[in-house]
Amino acid sequence: MYARLRFPMKTRAVYPGTFDPVTNGHIDLIERGAALFDHLQVAILSNTDKIPLFSLEERIEMLEVAVRRYRNVSVATFEGLLVDYAEKIGASVIVRGIRAVSDYEYELQMAMMNRRLSSRVETVFMMPAEAYSYLSSRLVKEISQLGGSVRGLVPPAVEKRLKSRNSKQQ
Ligand code: PNS
Repeated sequence: MYARLRFPMKTRAVYPGTFDPVTNGHIDLIERGAALFDHLQVAILSNTDKIPLFSLEERIEMLEVAVRRYRNVSVATFEGLLVDYAEKIGASVIVRGIRAVSDYEYELQMAMMNRRLSSRVETVFMMPAEAYSYLSSRLVKEISQLGGSVRGLVPPAVEKRLKSRNSKQQ
């Protein structure tokens, strides 16, 4: 009756997001997801209302470099409804990260709506390491734009891109 009973032998999961840019919190979650599921597809939303700092191509590149070491992780883009995309690629699980209680309300709403849209896809919430519980792409961009250091908060390639982006703007 529940999606769990219909899980195929091999479980494919999708980890969706804006990833503008990918942070070490995302990577932490990807690592946990890769250990739990047979395949984890990181999916970047392409038709977002948000105006991203990095182009879709740049975000794909940064993610691809960051997840290269995980054999069962791939990166793709999607548009439209997430549940439609999950079904299209044969994913029975949506992975979402919860850092703090403040994330929960929005994530619960989204998970419930996605469940209403498709009972074949189950949302699984995962917590990143405590060290990343206060980390977000938005804060990383703000700190970097104001000249602060984001070392240790994002993969080295992302740090480099943020630096060059900000030096061009100054
Ligand atoms: O990294 P974000 O911005 O928190 O990711 C949000 C995302 C991409 C997961 C969400 O906006 C999404 O799933 N968008 C696709 C459109 C959709 O399915 N909307 C209905 C969600 S209930």
